[in-house]
Amino acid sequence: MKNIYFLGGGNMCAALLSRLKTDSDFRLFVAEQNPARQAFLRQTFDITVENALPPLTADDILLLAVKPQDMQNALQGVQANGALVLSIAAGLSCQTLSNWLDNTHRIVRIMPNTPAQIGLGFAGLFADSGVSNADKAIAEHIMNAVGKTVWVENEDDLHTVTAISGSGPAYVFYLMNALFQAACDLGMPQDKARQSVLQTFIGSAQLAEQSGEDFGELQRKVTSKGGTTAAALAVFENAQTDKIIQQAVIACQNRSIEMSKQMG
Ligand SMILES: NC(=O)c1ccc[n+]([C@@H]2O[C@H](COP(=O)([O-])OP(=O)(O)OC[C@H]3O[C@@H](n4cnc5c(N)ncnc54)[C@H](OP(=O)(O)O)[C@@H]3O)[C@@H](O)[C@H]2O)c1
Repeated sequence: MKNIYFLGGGNMCAALLSRLKTDSDFRLFVAEQNPARQAFLRQTFDITVENALPPLTADDILLLAVKPQDMQNALQGVQANGALVLSIAAGLSCQTLSNWLDNTHRIVRIMPNTPAQIGLGFAGLFADSGVSNADKAIAEHIMNAVGKTVWVENEDDLHTVTAISGSGPAYVFYLMNALFQAACDLGMPQDKARQSVLQTFIGSAQLAEQSGEDFGELQRKVTSKGGTTAAALAVFENAQTDKIIQQAVIACQNRSIEMSKQMG
């Protein structure tokens, strides 16, 4: 059994705790500064929550889950002593974390997304030079508790993960909201509009997953020539919506690179 020490007991930590608390491979401990949050975590998960971390050992796992801007301060006085470090903090490079953690390179950087809160997340993982295959298996085991994972070869690829799956839920909600507004404008009652949009996204995502077909082919299958769907898609195509989405993704990736430089 391994110890996971969480630094920061916010939303992401709680998502992981809710899934890992029944996993007999791990003993869980949280360092959290906010007394009300401490009480919530103790009551909800029946685990040890303290203000600060005890000294760790190389057998332990340190999971960094404070906001990036709080990280340097939160790491002051932390004695990681060679523990495996997992960081979900957006934009903080392995080198920056290493500078704040006794120059360790046993670091896995993780870019998760919000559906992790219900166990349907998607995370990109990058292993620094001091990470073994056994460490990678542990990181994967932990993140698979809240969704699916993919390893990236280069640290910079995490910017792309940010631009697709990290920020992606917001793009999906944007589209959902636009469809919801359109339905309401056409006179559909709000509860029915919400239900129609939700079930359309859930059903389409599951159809895509279960059929295994590519997205373009699935789109063609619901688009008869000269029909209703074709009329709608012609509007998207005339506005070059695919290009706009590509530009949005690139803007996100560029902002991720910029923020990472500022934080480094
Ligand atoms: N939520 C997501 O879907 C998501 C996605 C991708 C990446 N991430 C990353 O995950 C990390 C955590 O996000 P989150 O949404 O869980 O944040 P959060 O809800 O703000 O949780 C962070 C917690 O850490 C506490 N904290 C701050 N400084 C501390 C210290 N020195 N010692 C102990 N605890 C301290 C905060 O307390 P106070 O409230 O008192 O400051 C807060 O309770 C962030 O780095 C974020 O970039 C999150």
